[in-house]
Amino acid sequence: MGIFITGTGLFTPDESISNEELVKSYNAYADLFNKQNKEAIEKGDAEELTYSSADFIKKASGIESRYVLSKKGILDPERMKPEFKKRKDSEISIQAEISVKAAKEALKNANIESDQVDGLICACSNLQRAYPAVSIEIQQELGIEGYAYDMNVACSSATFGIQNAVNDIRAGVAETLLVVNPEICTAHLNFKDRDGHFIFGDVCTAIVITKVNDGSKGTFEVLDTKLKTSFSNNIRNNFGFISKNEDLDLYSDDQLFKQEGRKVFKQVVPMVEELITNHLKGNNLQVDDVKRLWLHQANLSMNSLIAKRLLGRDPSEDEMPTVLDLYANTSSAGSIIAFHKYSKDFRKGDLGVICSFGAGYSAGSIIVQKT
Ligand code: COA
Repeated sequence: MGIFITGTGLFTPDESISNEELVKSYNAYADLFNKQNKEAIEKGDAEELTYSSADFIKKASGIESRYVLSKKGILDPERMKPEFKKRKDSEISIQAEISVKAAKEALKNANIESDQVDGLICACSNLQRAYPAVSIEIQQELGIEGYAYDMNVACSSATFGIQNAVNDIRAGVAETLLVVNPEICTAHLNFKDRDGHFIFGDVCTAIVITKVNDGSKGTFEVLDTKLKTSFSNNIRNNFGFISKNEDLDLYSDDQLFKQEGRKVFKQVVPMVEELITNHLKGNNLQVDDVKRLWLHQANLSMNSLIAKRLLGRDPSEDEMPTVLDLYANTSSAGSIIAFHKYSKDFRKGDLGVICSFGAGYSAGSIIVQKT
C-alpha cells in the first residue's frame, strides 16, 4: 500500500530579529549585569559578561535572523524572554492557534477538507501544558473526528510523528492524518546565555499523510522511515512538572535549554551519516539516487559536513537547501520547512530524504519519492 505526503503548511510569525538586533540587546543586558554586579565581579564572586558578536553567530552557525512570536520581550535587556499574555482556559492556546494556521495551509495544499482527516498528531519539542493534549484542542478547532495525541522527541518530533502516522495508516486505524509541529523555541531559550542566545526561532509546520493519492501536484510517496535514538545529556532541558517539587528556582538557567554544542556537533554527524547510509542501503538505494537532502536546521557547517560525508564531495545548495539563515533552529520543524519550501521543482520519480536530528539523541530519516 502506498502512503503519501499530499500537502505541507508553514506558519511563520510576522516578526523577526536580526543577529545585529539580538546582539545589541544582549550587550545591553551584559552592561546592565556588569554594573549591577560590579562589587561581586571585583571580588571574584561573579564573572564579568563579555559581548556577543553578530559575526561570530553567522560564522559559527549560519544563522542570520530568526522569526519570533514576541520580539519586544526578547529584546528588552531588563526582560530577555518572550512575553505571552496569559490566556483564559476558554481561549485558544497559542500553540493550538499557530498549529491551526499551518494545518489549514497543509489541508489546502493537499486539496482536502478537515472532515476528510481521521486524526492529528501534535509532535514538537515543548508542549505548553500537561493536559488536555494540545493536539485535541487543535483537533476541535479544525473539526476533525477521530483521535489526536501529543508526542515529544525534541528535534526529531516531526519525523517520529510522520513514522507514527505512516504506521497508523498502514495498520488500518486511519486513512488520513495530520502531523503538526508548533515549535515555540524562544520560550525555552536562555537569552542571557551568550553561547546559545542566538540559536532558536519560532514556527509551525504541518504535514498531511494519507493513503489516498488523488494525484495532487505536490504529492510525494513515503517509501520508508527509519528512526534512531541514543541517550545523551549534551542537549538537555530539565524543566518539568517535578521541578517545583524539587524547590528549584523555576527561572534558573537549569530550567532552560542547554547544550554542549561542540560535542553535539562531533557525535551527531556520524550518527546521522550512518542512519541515512543504512536507510538508503536497506532500500537498495545509493546516495547518488537522491536528488535532495532536507536536513534538520541547527548548524550550516554540520549539515554541509553530513552531506559531504554522504556524497564524498561538497554538496550544492540545491542538494542540501538551507532555511537556517532566516529561520534559525526551529527544532523539529526545520527539515519540514526545508521540504515545504524546496520540493516544488521535483519531477515524477525524483527521490529525497527528510532527516532530523537533535536532543535525545534522536534522529529520523524519511525517504520520499515524487509521484
Ligand atoms: N559571541 C561571540 N563569541 C562567542 C559567542 C557569541 N555569542 N558564543 C561563544 N563565543 C566564543 C566562545 O566563548 C569561545 O571562545 P574561546 O575560544 O575563547 O573559548 C568561541 O566563541 C567558540 O565557542 P564554541 O561554543 O566552541 O562555538 P562553536 O564553534 O562550537 O559554535 C554552536 C557554537 C552552538 C553554534 C555549535 O557548536 C553548534 O551549532 N553545534 C551543534 C549544535 C546542535 O546541533 N544542536 C542541536 C540542538 S537542537
